Amino acid sequence: MTLLDLLPSIGHAAPRRFDPAIWPTTASSDEDGRLCVGGMSLSDIADEFGTPAYVIDETDFRHRARRYRTALRDVEIAYAGKSLLTTAVARWAREEGLGVGICSPGELAVALAGGVDPSRIVMHGNTTSPDELRDAVAVGVGRLVLDSSLDIAYLAGPARRHQRVLIRVTPDTDIHGYRAVTAGISDPKPGFTLTGGHAAEAVRAVLAHPILDLIGLHCHLGSQVSDPARYGEAIRRLVAAMADIRAHHGVILTELNIGGGHAVPYLREDPELDLDELAGVIEDALDEACAAERFPRPAVVVEPGRGISVRAGVTLYRICSVKTRPNGHTVVAVDGGISDNPRVALGGARYTVALANRHARTERRAVTVAGRHGEAGNEIARDVELPADIRAGDLLAVAGTGSYHHSMASNYTMVGRPPLVAVSGGRARELVRRETIADLLVRDCG
Ligand SMILES: Cc1ncc(COP(=O)(O)O)c(C=O)c1O
Repeated sequence: MTLLDLLPSIGHAAPRRFDPAIWPTTASSDEDGRLCVGGMSLSDIADEFGTPAYVIDETDFRHRARRYRTALRDVEIAYAGKSLLTTAVARWAREEGLGVGICSPGELAVALAGGVDPSRIVMHGNTTSPDELRDAVAVGVGRLVLDSSLDIAYLAGPARRHQRVLIRVTPDTDIHGYRAVTAGISDPKPGFTLTGGHAAEAVRAVLAHPILDLIGLHCHLGSQVSDPARYGEAIRRLVAAMADIRAHHGVILTELNIGGGHAVPYLREDPELDLDELAGVIEDALDEACAAERFPRPAVVVEPGRGISVRAGVTLYRICSVKTRPNGHTVVAVDGGISDNPRVALGGARYTVALANRHARTERRAVTVAGRHGEAGNEIARDVELPADIRAGDLLAVAGTGSYHHSMASNYTMVGRPPLVAVSGGRARELVRRETIADLLVRDCG
């Protein structure tokens, strides 16, 4: 017997607050205990758009974007579109004064359709084909980041007008046992190593093509980096590399792009990269490195994805069954899974989950939330505390799914991808509609 059983009115009287370190800043519960985001009840969204559904809080996205701009005042912010990109999201980024980082023709098309000025686009040449590079140059992308010798050869051929480029290097700062993990995949570390002369060779190759304007160096340290000192170390190494380039070629590079990868908590105990500390570290590292090398201060660019979009997103699932195994462990099966969230199967990602459609009237117990695909590893969350009385038909909200969910969804087991529904100021609208079986059949050529 819990206090809520004795005094059920407590549940009605006490709307919950949700930790903004994990949930959208607008998340709260109404007097019926329903989780609301952007002034909309998630139950209503599930009724209108079905489940599973990705819900994205425009206010939260804009708030995190502004937070970056105020914390990193002298730094250019290029939002990493690979984390989440639609034309509306591109527009939000543009309206908040951000550039957009992209890495495919599809992302380029979406960013342009969202009204992003091509000059504010940073395109990554990661295994891009010659045609794709040519198209990017033709629309006038502001900067191209080259990370292989092939990129340089491909680009130098078709370029008809001057193109500003950066060379991506791997500064090898992960000396503390850190291993880069993006959505669970070990980072193959694109880019040229600073040691062994590879980066120097790339610089020579770019400078040999006068049509390519080498303006700077780029690096990306990996993902979920919580220690700002690692960015300071990268800046010191890159400024030293820039000084070497000046010494050998008489060229002064003016831009230093230190990538994204800023840690964001998915669970209460997870670390978060402190943006104010990052600002201080960038300043100090630049001061120190530029003074040591007598090098003019380059402009700094960062490319956060998750730091801006992850907390804006929650995924809604309807519970299909609740089963307690003979060992006493309860498995809650929901109507989504690997197809809308591959991160758990890829890299053991962990999430915070809440009952979204009503007050919890019982004590909580640890359960596993399992997906619909029936494979080993087909879990959405393990050992999450949910009310003991959860039942089929209840609605679950999974926090921290704004990044690398919509953008990584698949049709595994021929399941249509969920809609992406934006909420703001008590209104909801679909940014991307649900994929139907007809959509799947349309691509099947028979
Ligand atoms: C080059 C580059 N920049 C930025 C990002 C964004 O990383 P995050 O979403 O962790 O900030 C990535 C992610 O893989 C990346 O590869």
